Amino acid sequence: MTASVVSAEPISRAGNATHGAIELRQVSKSYGDVLAVDQLDLMVQPGEFVTLLGPSGSGKTTTMMMVAGFEEHTAGSVLIDGRPVDTLPPRERNLGVVFQNYALFPHMSALENVEFALRMRKVPRAERRQRAADALDRVGLGKMGDRKPRQLSGGQQQRVALARALVFNPAALLLDEPMAALDKRLREQMQEEIKTLQKSLGISVLFVTHDQDEAMAMSDRIVVMRDGKIVQAGPPSDVYNHPLTDWVASFLGDTNLIPCTIVERNGEEAVVDLGGLGLARVRDRGASGENYAVSIRPEHLKFSTRAAEGNGCTATLVSSTNLGATVRHRLTAGGHELQLRELSSDAGDSLLPEEGLWVSWDADKAQLLVLES
Ligand SMILES: Nc1ncnc2c1ncn2[C@@H]1O[C@H](COP(=O)(O)OP(=O)(O)O)[C@@H](O)[C@H]1O
Ligand SMILES: [Mg+2]
Repeated sequence: MTASVVSAEPISRAGNATHGAIELRQVSKSYGDVLAVDQLDLMVQPGEFVTLLGPSGSGKTTTMMMVAGFEEHTAGSVLIDGRPVDTLPPRERNLGVVFQNYALFPHMSALENVEFALRMRKVPRAERRQRAADALDRVGLGKMGDRKPRQLSGGQQQRVALARALVFNPAALLLDEPMAALDKRLREQMQEEIKTLQKSLGISVLFVTHDQDEAMAMSDRIVVMRDGKIVQAGPPSDVYNHPLTDWVASFLGDTNLIPCTIVERNGEEAVVDLGGLGLARVRDRGASGENYAVSIRPEHLKFSTRAAEGNGCTATLVSSTNLGATVRHRLTAGGHELQLRELSSDAGDSLLPEEGLWVSWDADKAQLLVLES
């Protein structure tokens, strides 16, 4: 792992501990006929890292722009630290913003770019210099203040944008796909750096991405958006392991969807009929619809060579593909095509027999959900 260049030194935010709450109440935005955001309710607690995750066009940027004050909402209210800010211009909302295109001024040095945020806020010149230099230091660019944006790499420009967003000690940070222009390795490094910085500052972050892995890696809470609405929200592992619909399950990663009928529901658990896979006890979140399925992630299916207690079935191996860190097996069981993933180190070198295998899973890793599609 690459060492973090962002300082993890706690920066005193005395008296600021309860700041940075962002609240949206029934916020909507339409562009003519297009309802981009549809009655959104959302609360970001002080110090919380919340990610809006959704496909392109789901309303993430529009939501961000309304919080920042660059777009006017057509209904509802935005509150920061409990105070409605609907009529305040962006600069008076005290929010640090980084957009996908960093929008650094090309003719200004890195230092001047960061200073600009303070100039706009009428901070005296001498203090401005010092604070901008400190902010650049904090993001590991202390020695590069003189460079123009074109003399900096994509990752460095991104850090300048971050310094500019942080330099005036905002109540919260809004980051809209800030890593989209970076390659995979740099993106992962920046993810860790932003996370470290956020924790050390104790600052709340509203983050936007369409990348599930990025959302999983960074968030305290993921808010999944589709067509301008929130379809599910919760801690990353919760949304991943307990999706309410097949759409959410598939958007967050690979999964096995097995259509089922409900035999019995009792609170957190249900008994379902999986057809050829028999009866199974599964997790239930009470989602209701017309058609149901059970979602089991490929890494939650297990092979054994003989029948075991609990949920399971005989299986036939169709193919095994080594993907480096993991091996992907395709199999059929009870008339269903399933995918099973295991770590290469667990798979070993010996080939699995094609017939006579048993596939099983833990009841708490199988989730009852609503089939939308
Ligand atoms: N300025 C605009 N004029 C008209 N439609 C817009 C405008 N901005 C966004 N939209 C529409 O609003 C919807 C949400 O867009 P956006 O918030 O940018 O989504 P995301 O950031 O999730 O990709 C899309 O259907 C998009 O086409
Ligand atoms: Mg967007």
